[in-house]
Amino acid sequence: MRPDAAQPVRLEDYLPTAYAIETVHLDFRLTANATRVIARTCFAPRESTAPGTPLVLDGDELTLTGLSLNGAALAGDAFEATPGKLVVHAPPAGGFTLEVTTQIDPEANTKLMGLFRSNGAYCTQCEAEGFRRITYFHDRPDVLAVYTTRLEARKSDAPVLLANGNPVSSGDIDGTDRHFAVWHDPFPKPAYLFAMVAGDLACVSDTFTTMSGRAVDLRIYVEHGNEDRCDYAMDALKRSMRWDETAFGREYDLDIFVIVAVSDFNMGAMENKGLNIFNDKYVLANPQTATDQDYAHIEGIIAHEYFHNWTGNRITCRDWFQLCLKEGLTVFRDQEFSADQRSAPVKRIADVRLLKSHQFPEDAGPLAHPVRPKIYHQINNFYTATVYEKGAELVRMLKTWLGEADFRKSMDLYFERHDGDAATIEDFLACFRDAAGIDISQFSLWYDQAGTPALKVGDRWDEATGTYTLDIEQSCPPTPGQDAKLPMTIPIRFGLVGPNGHDLAWQSVSGGEVRGDVIVLTDKTQRLSFTGVGARPVPSLLRGFSAPVTLNHDLPHADRVFLARHDGDTFNRWQAVQTIAMELLTVGTRAGKAAMPSVDVADLAALMDEIAADTGLEPAYRALVLQLPGDADVAREIATDVDPDAIASARKALASAVARACAATFERAYAEQAIDGPYSPDAAHAGRRALSAVLLDYLAENDAAHSARSMNHYETADNMTDRLAALKVLVHRGDSKADAALEDFFQRHSDNALVLDKWFTVQATAPFDGALDRVKTLMRHPAFSFTNPNRVRALISAFATGNQTQFNRADGAGYDFLAATVLELDKRNPQVAARLLSAFRSWRALELNRRGKAEAALRRVENAETLSSDVQDIVARSLQQG
Ligand code: TRP
Ligand code: ZN
Repeated sequence: MRPDAAQPVRLEDYLPTAYAIETVHLDFRLTANATRVIARTCFAPRESTAPGTPLVLDGDELTLTGLSLNGAALAGDAFEATPGKLVVHAPPAGGFTLEVTTQIDPEANTKLMGLFRSNGAYCTQCEAEGFRRITYFHDRPDVLAVYTTRLEARKSDAPVLLANGNPVSSGDIDGTDRHFAVWHDPFPKPAYLFAMVAGDLACVSDTFTTMSGRAVDLRIYVEHGNEDRCDYAMDALKRSMRWDETAFGREYDLDIFVIVAVSDFNMGAMENKGLNIFNDKYVLANPQTATDQDYAHIEGIIAHEYFHNWTGNRITCRDWFQLCLKEGLTVFRDQEFSADQRSAPVKRIADVRLLKSHQFPEDAGPLAHPVRPKIYHQINNFYTATVYEKGAELVRMLKTWLGEADFRKSMDLYFERHDGDAATIEDFLACFRDAAGIDISQFSLWYDQAGTPALKVGDRWDEATGTYTLDIEQSCPPTPGQDAKLPMTIPIRFGLVGPNGHDLAWQSVSGGEVRGDVIVLTDKTQRLSFTGVGARPVPSLLRGFSAPVTLNHDLPHADRVFLARHDGDTFNRWQAVQTIAMELLTVGTRAGKAAMPSVDVADLAALMDEIAADTGLEPAYRALVLQLPGDADVAREIATDVDPDAIASARKALASAVARACAATFERAYAEQAIDGPYSPDAAHAGRRALSAVLLDYLAENDAAHSARSMNHYETADNMTDRLAALKVLVHRGDSKADAALEDFFQRHSDNALVLDKWFTVQATAPFDGALDRVKTLMRHPAFSFTNPNRVRALISAFATGNQTQFNRADGAGYDFLAATVLELDKRNPQVAARLLSAFRSWRALELNRRGKAEAALRRVENAETLSSDVQDIVARSLQQG
């Protein structure tokens, strides 16, 4: 191990601190390069703490400029301060007040953790371990304190001064050009939820009256000029606040709720108490700049951060191993919110697609880890699809298993029992045990066992006795550090579909627990026998994707087609079409596109034709059904010796066959989606635009006149969704008009960084030779910036994760480029660099040549002169054996 690698942290080593913190007074005197921070903190020894036990506080790159205890300066031998730590050797028995003064340089903070500047505004990001870059502290989630924050700055630099909680006082500092504000947050919180913002920002405000009749002041702060792009975010916030009251009985608790949008941000947004800070991408929208998908993300993320107020803030995590306690649960809550606001089946399919494209590969590769890990080297790298998305699935399974009423009862108990606590997964699950009276022990394995479980299903129909038998075997593949797995509780929502398409009833079932329409699987192998079934059923299993597993069932092709037409569960209708397409694509990849059975291709095309024409189905749903599995989905399914070029060619062949067979219907359906009247981001209109985009792409496939239609779609667009969809078709098909359209798009939006991100992404994801050179050229474009995470993600991450054939070029140039870029970025922003590097997470699944080239690139990263602990952690785990 390299000497600067972070030491591992283990769940089993958890110990509370020797001292608790009751209150902290923070005083910031803000200047760009030398901000002075005074932290006056009241410590109290815990009952078991022996007198004289040293006080050990966390720091990170800090400079101590003053230290006193109970009002008296500390002698040099009474403490020890390094940039990473402050130790007071023998503090007095009983409580004491420590006053720590540090000096920090926000302008030089390129990691965007702690206090940094974004376009001139001061702001903070403290989760997970950023507060220690501001002052020495117990920077861990189980130390909860009441914060008072005083901010002081030049009025011209920072007319707006914000911190957590409610405003207390503010005013000018006489005889200076400075002013101050004091904020007080009455709710005890861990340091990671601290935030402050100071800058010259514009404000959009509104109010919300809570269920008990309290008026809450709502504010969104943005850079001047962006005020008119906040309406949707504000509306989403109010809907979120209302929804949490009705769906979970949760009311907001402060007098004011503030959102600040900043341009430079490592992730999506942050739930700081009463002062959420957002990546501006997830706040700013108008029809000319934001796509329907952007609107949906804004709604979901505004809701997510707001919902954290109860699941994360009022009840926080005991330690970072419990991260899914707040993140999985809050993702579940935002998913349920969006499902309620829009179309539930469409939302579910979108969520499952995300889970399968992000979490399943993570779980199948070297970076696999349990939803609740037992060890980490760098916590920043555990804000993963597994913790967030699989974590949400575990909560969803509880709801599926217990049903709506018992789920709500259990959640109510959780809020009541743990309000104000730093809780664990055990605490959470105990509420389900106690409120719903279930045995939770086997289910809890989901939190500890990594890997996607597989269900192998066999079935039998006995006509003579009307008995239908299902054999289900569960298994879970080995993952790093975990070989043998135990069987888990798996809720399988299902139906036995009869010949007329309706679900069949049965008289009795033996061999396992069935609650309503849910089989509660518990054993490694289980045989469920249903008697008194009126006709041979076609099983529809895992309806609504009731568990995050893979389902292997050699259902006859004809049954699959039957489900695609008749399954009463719309999710499984979509799934049936996907499975048919996936079978074709895997055959076409392995044995060449000519090997795809033409009758099956014809069946798929017939299904797509019917569904495209079925105006009884929502357009958004039809759009999803018509989309073939993506290159990365096929790669995941194939799992070993993956050749991305073979996948792309099979996929292209299948898309073309579908387009040819369905041309007339697609043409008609495309025309039907035209919308009269002004743009609205609502789900119904968005669905029509989504369908028209999918159809436009198909129509371009075989149509010599596609150029004209796509260009017309581009030119007549009155909104970003349509315009971008057309641009993508033109550019990704190498249309002769592509360059002109790109130039036009650039000219229209050259003043808007978030829109230019789309321009970068379209080019980075163009699936043909030359894309890598294009990306390298674009890195020198004046609108590109290596210091802005959104720009880096729009160009470089988009290339590495969204351009399968070009990132995975057979000559390894894509890998070399990514490795070099990660090393360069690591010097500035390790968190974003580490995330970029995780694009290699499936390298072991590649065919031999590419595997060798990917490994060589990873080795180059591993052997670099200096590496952050973030990148070091990802590269080490990516290369580990087994
Ligand atoms: N807790 C945040 C959320 O999920 C995400 C987050 C974690 C974050 N660490 C961060 C955001 C660092 C920005 C930077 O809502
Ligand atoms: Zn979150």
